[in-house]
Amino acid sequence: MERLTTPDLNWLADPEIFEVNRIKAHSDHDFFSSKTGKNSLKQNLNGTWRIHTEPSLATANFDFSDPNFNYQEFDYIQVPSHLQTTGFDEHQYVNTQYPWDGHEDLRPPKVPQNNKVASYIKTFELAENLHDKPVYISFQGVATAFFVWLNGHFVGYSEDSFTPNDFELTDYLVSGTNYLAVQVFKYSSASWIEDQDFWRLNGIFRDVYLYATPKAHLFDLNVTASLDDTYQNGILELNATIHGDLSDKKLHVALLDQKQEIAYETNQPLLEHTKVTHKLDQVHPWSAENPSLYTLELSLLDKDGKVLEYIPQKIGFRRFELRNNIMYLNDQRIVFKGVNRHEFDPIHGRAITKADMLWDIKFMKRHNINAVRTSHYPNQTYWYKLCDEYGIYLIDEANLESHGSWQKLGECEPSWNVPGNLPEWQATCLDRANSMYERDKNHPSVLIWSLGNESYAGTDILAMRELLRHKDPTRLVHYEGVTWNREFDEITDIESRMYAKPHEIEEYLTNDPQKPYISCEYMHAMGNSVGGLKLYTDLEKYAHYQGGFIWDYIDQALYQDVDGKKRLAYGGDFNDRPSDYEFCGNGLVFADRTISPKAQEVKHLYADVKLKPDKTGVTLTNDRLFADTSDSFFVAKVLQDGKVVWQKELNLVVKAQTSKHFEIDFPLPTEGEIVYEVEQRLKHDTLWAKAGFEINFGQALIKKDIPTFEATNTPKVVIGDVNVGVSGENFEVLLSKDKGGIVSLKYSGKEYVTRTPQLVFWRPMTDNDRGCGHGFDRAMWLSAGKFARVTDLKVTNQKHAVNVTYTYELPLPKKVLVTVSYTVDGTGKVNVTANYPGQADLPSLPTFGLEFKLPKQLTQLKYYGRGPAENYLDRNVGARLGIFETTAKDNLAPYLVPQETGLHCDVRRLALSDETAQRIKISANGQPFSASLLPYSTMMLEEALHQDELPPVRFTWLRLLASQMGVGGDDSWGAPVHEQYWLSANKPLELSFTIEPFA
Ligand code: GAL
Ligand code: MG
Repeated sequence: MERLTTPDLNWLADPEIFEVNRIKAHSDHDFFSSKTGKNSLKQNLNGTWRIHTEPSLATANFDFSDPNFNYQEFDYIQVPSHLQTTGFDEHQYVNTQYPWDGHEDLRPPKVPQNNKVASYIKTFELAENLHDKPVYISFQGVATAFFVWLNGHFVGYSEDSFTPNDFELTDYLVSGTNYLAVQVFKYSSASWIEDQDFWRLNGIFRDVYLYATPKAHLFDLNVTASLDDTYQNGILELNATIHGDLSDKKLHVALLDQKQEIAYETNQPLLEHTKVTHKLDQVHPWSAENPSLYTLELSLLDKDGKVLEYIPQKIGFRRFELRNNIMYLNDQRIVFKGVNRHEFDPIHGRAITKADMLWDIKFMKRHNINAVRTSHYPNQTYWYKLCDEYGIYLIDEANLESHGSWQKLGECEPSWNVPGNLPEWQATCLDRANSMYERDKNHPSVLIWSLGNESYAGTDILAMRELLRHKDPTRLVHYEGVTWNREFDEITDIESRMYAKPHEIEEYLTNDPQKPYISCEYMHAMGNSVGGLKLYTDLEKYAHYQGGFIWDYIDQALYQDVDGKKRLAYGGDFNDRPSDYEFCGNGLVFADRTISPKAQEVKHLYADVKLKPDKTGVTLTNDRLFADTSDSFFVAKVLQDGKVVWQKELNLVVKAQTSKHFEIDFPLPTEGEIVYEVEQRLKHDTLWAKAGFEINFGQALIKKDIPTFEATNTPKVVIGDVNVGVSGENFEVLLSKDKGGIVSLKYSGKEYVTRTPQLVFWRPMTDNDRGCGHGFDRAMWLSAGKFARVTDLKVTNQKHAVNVTYTYELPLPKKVLVTVSYTVDGTGKVNVTANYPGQADLPSLPTFGLEFKLPKQLTQLKYYGRGPAENYLDRNVGARLGIFETTAKDNLAPYLVPQETGLHCDVRRLALSDETAQRIKISANGQPFSASLLPYSTMMLEEALHQDELPPVRFTWLRLLASQMGVGGDDSWGAPVHEQYWLSANKPLELSFTIEPFA
């Protein structure tokens, strides 16, 4: 094609012009000038560039593209980076609405006036080894549209922020200093189809490099490495597209196995299209469980056998197919235990580092996650290499989302949707699918192509599907958008839904499903969420249920300085308007990659090997597709009142897809509560964890034993006018007739009560609570505890104890009387029992219990209950019974918006200490309770919108609860917590515990 030599600003708003002079998309293979791999043909252009920005097209021009331009006034910028994270543009976070909504009245393909223009300059000298060869430049990612010049010559133009853009520079290079000019536009017509729910970040944000090609160059490599019908033998098919001078040259192909031994070798004459096919007996197939890679070494040789170009390409033999409407990998039905992942880090935005990617993949492997959807765009190439090597299945998603064009305020309104059936948008959509396919096609980790996210449906997306189906019969095509327009159902090979409820999915699965099912998004992990995950993983019993992808992996929050202090900021914090505020934070890990408590549940429910101990041993169910459990050893434990009193290492081998019971000679101690536990641990070091790392666990409560309170040693009692005083050796308790409860609890002269504990029926609202109208529905419980009034008080003498019972009337439309009774014996034990009697016709309760405002120093918590991370009624199967230690501060999960946090279910006893000694212990009376220790009260957490808005810490707050409703997680915009995890107002609730001092 003829090169265009003059740039034209009209291209920006023309959807039909999305590239000018760009090199055709090709595979992402590495290439070197020799086998040592050292003499690379690449020259990195990352680093310090110069930059100048203008607020709009009106003031911008192309003058800077002239090599004689004086750019002394230009600023410095590190490339790759975003304009917003380096201070050259303002941050903005919006979800579905377009960022200009309400500011400018636009319809596609028009481009906003307020369109930041960034002019970049980079000077370079061509590296020695690139001399005298054709030279190209590659921009791996630039948002949103850009022009390139070299030494004053116009080079090209491109769109699509997330796939590479290569241009040829050969004719424009000079010896000495070369002057590269790049002009990046924040918005172009492409912005209409890059409306992903994310921070709007622009600039040159991925690597930039030069590369030279030798006389003959492998332009594109297309390898399929499949399995024959026995699933034992490999079928290799290699299509190489060679550019340059082909005469008198050869292609040498060698296939190396995992031991680096040659498994196959051939020499072929070099043709423009060179094809090699080979059948290889007994290969090691690739899967996430056994990511066996082979190395394909291609050498382009001249007539003397000298290497002109050397290409080492990792490949994996695997076969992914649809049979009877079920997806199979290497002859086994696959289940995706997936997450959606945005590329994100709180400093660099989407210009993430290799270190971030390594951290992410290790986190995933350690949490039994086996699949990632690259929501919502092709990721950096390094990520695919890691997924091949570590073993992660990928849904690779094209960069296409036009959410705001067809859904408004939650309603489907596609009157002006793009791309729809519009012919002028089709080519750019096809280009996006093609660029993704061509770059990523050789990665065994990619099993499924996704046509994009939330772009409605129409003939343009159908054409994308046809393109991929035609180019790649070895993978499936995924698209969820047809759920909004079933006329285009044929677009997707998979029935894929977002945020479908478990019963809706079950209905599909039990009605003769015509396609395999996945949830491309489910379990909206916003704030304190991921309740009810088990209701989804339970669906794995249906063959057509092939898993889901949690939304999502990491919070998208950015560091911001407020009054000299760094905090994690979300939408709106940068005065960005419009904004969708905290909706950018839905991660299993916080933005700074601190692991959130939600991950504990995911790890357990995503584990492939399930462990079910019983009195005589353990049943292991191995849901892996291929691997037996010989990579693991098992540790059997006996816990007596939470303490490990016996343990034994075992080698237990269960074949994939089978289940087996193993006898274990567990002792049964006669005293106390007994739990049997079996853990699965790694036998050897892996890429992602050391030997000994725990993969999963199972527990069984063999003997439940929660003692009840018994009074001993009659105390001294003083019935005053206002207070009932109870005392004995080293203790004194005052129960106020006036304040409605305990006002003093002194052990050895130390005071533990700062104020009478409050009845609590409210929890600090979670993001899910806010989203589903919980506040409106249950508002009366907010004040129920705070404004309860004492209507009665009774003092009774009991054997060895005195009892004071307070009756509270709650400020509710129905008469509800709650009692809190204190029984104090002669040893200083205080038994507290709170009773909610149950009452019809009231909304269900968020929680019920007591909140204590304790002296600040009591920050250390040790408990026997479920842990180590916080857990809730609908999110506690990943938490185990045991003895754990934490502090008030560490027990708080730093959700972007402060909310309910830190709870532990099934607590039998706990101890509170200050820095110097254990001070008081609290034991459950007959039945366990839930507990949290935090630096803040319910009301403080309820009010704050950021962690840094929480007040200075003056007290420590202990909540002891009969129970608390689940946290939910089906979505955060209306889905209620599942009813089985509610606290029905009808039913009575009792909290009973005993406080005592340490000796
Ligand atoms: C989905 C969307 C995601 C994200 C999520 C809400 O509809 O695909 O990108 O917006 O909702 O957090
Ligand atoms: Mg969206």
